[in-house]
Amino acid sequence: MDKSAIHSSGKRKTHTPLLNRRSGIPLYRQIQQGILDQIESGELQPGRPLPSIQRIAARMGVSQMTVRQAVRALCEVGVIYSRQGKGTFISGIKLERDFRQVLSFTEETVGRGAVPSSKVLSFTVQPPSEEVRAALRLHETDSVFSLRRVRFGNAVPMGIECSSLPVQLCPELMETFDPSSSLYEELSEHYGIQLMVTDEVIEVGLANAEDARLLKIAAGSPVFLFTRLSYLENGTPVEHVKSVYPGARYKVVNRLMRVKHELLGPLTLVPTMDENGSAG
Ligand code: GLP
Repeated sequence: MDKSAIHSSGKRKTHTPLLNRRSGIPLYRQIQQGILDQIESGELQPGRPLPSIQRIAARMGVSQMTVRQAVRALCEVGVIYSRQGKGTFISGIKLERDFRQVLSFTEETVGRGAVPSSKVLSFTVQPPSEEVRAALRLHETDSVFSLRRVRFGNAVPMGIECSSLPVQLCPELMETFDPSSSLYEELSEHYGIQLMVTDEVIEVGLANAEDARLLKIAAGSPVFLFTRLSYLENGTPVEHVKSVYPGARYKVVNRLMRVKHELLGPLTLVPTMDENGSAG
């Protein structure tokens, strides 16, 4: 998650970004990244028009639909904007390279140019904890797959992730899934499950002895504690994850956007509570 801001100054020769069809990264994301790279290098300048969808599609050898998907996503985060009847333009907004998207560990790591791998600590079917049961909206008798892994980028331990998924959503997971590979890819390929929205709560803590050993950091050093709940487009919760990431290997970058008021309820800040229920 080392995210360098994209600067849109300086000129370089125009080039057509290459697509890697075997990387596991969807083509529209690669096109997005290609456009971001061109903004960074100064090939695409703020205020100037983006080449037409037809032109990008023809140059890259992909369908116009795929390019449209990439362009729409960049519009949504404000990197480019559309003027009715005039086309699409580069906005000049500086962007963190990996602006917040629902990315898998594998996609994020490959996107940084590193090689992902995992060490599986456990993979079981079990009754959920109270917290997981409530988050995944399960009944008393429902079971979850529980997968605990250390995730590595270029053999450096980047985090410990413990995922819980309802057995009924992906009943064959134990048989079909190699738990050292990408969970999101498996969910998408075998079950058509696309995780579209994620709620993430980030807290800080200190590494306990076991986490420190697995992450190769000193016990007591700062860690990020992520609790993530991911949903299908229709709001069905699919994955509850508790993760521990070394504080020294990550920074958290957020972009906040003002969204038309009618789309949202009022925004609230959530204070953490101590045992007596008062704000901590
Ligand atoms: C990210 C998320 C995890 C999720 C994982 C899936 O790291 N923070 O909540 O479980 O991606 O990654 P992969 O598809 O590589 O297994």
